[in-house]
Amino acid sequence: MLIHVLRCLLGAVLLLFVNLGSAEATAAAIQDTSRGAVLFEQHCAGCHINGGNIIRRGKNLKLKTLERDDIATVEAIAAIAREGRGQMSGYAEVLGTDGDQLVAEWILLQAQKAWTQG
Ligand code: HEC
Repeated sequence: MLIHVLRCLLGAVLLLFVNLGSAEATAAAIQDTSRGAVLFEQHCAGCHINGGNIIRRGKNLKLKTLERDDIATVEAIAAIAREGRGQMSGYAEVLGTDGDQLVAEWILLQAQKAWTQG
């Protein structure tokens, strides 16, 4: 009987840990997403407000355009964020070590949601 109770307790404790772990992961993911949003606001929105492009309208960040230009992946967008492309210069210095990834993930997410925000 005691063993049974102990097993139950152990199970409950383990479950708690697993839940805490995933809550932390979720919190980290939310934090990454908002860092991506802030980076975009600081370094990209000037030209790409709402996923557009105020300089070259056709080179916007809408999903259709990214697919057309074969850059609808986090890697490709991150590379452009770092190194620039055509008329756009790179932002590696201001984005920091993982900022290119974070902002690219955020852009792709917005593109998939048609830049409707929220
Ligand atoms: C000063 C204006 C400006 C800023 C700021 C800017 N971009 Fe751009 N971006 C452009 C222009 C212009 C192009 C078109 C480049 C070309 O092909 O000649 C472009 C193109 C792109 C493209 C390719 C779009 C396509 O469909 O081909 C991506 C992706 C992109 N920018 C991401 C970013 C990210 C990420 C940031 C912020 C780190 C950023 N841009 C900041 C002007 C800007």
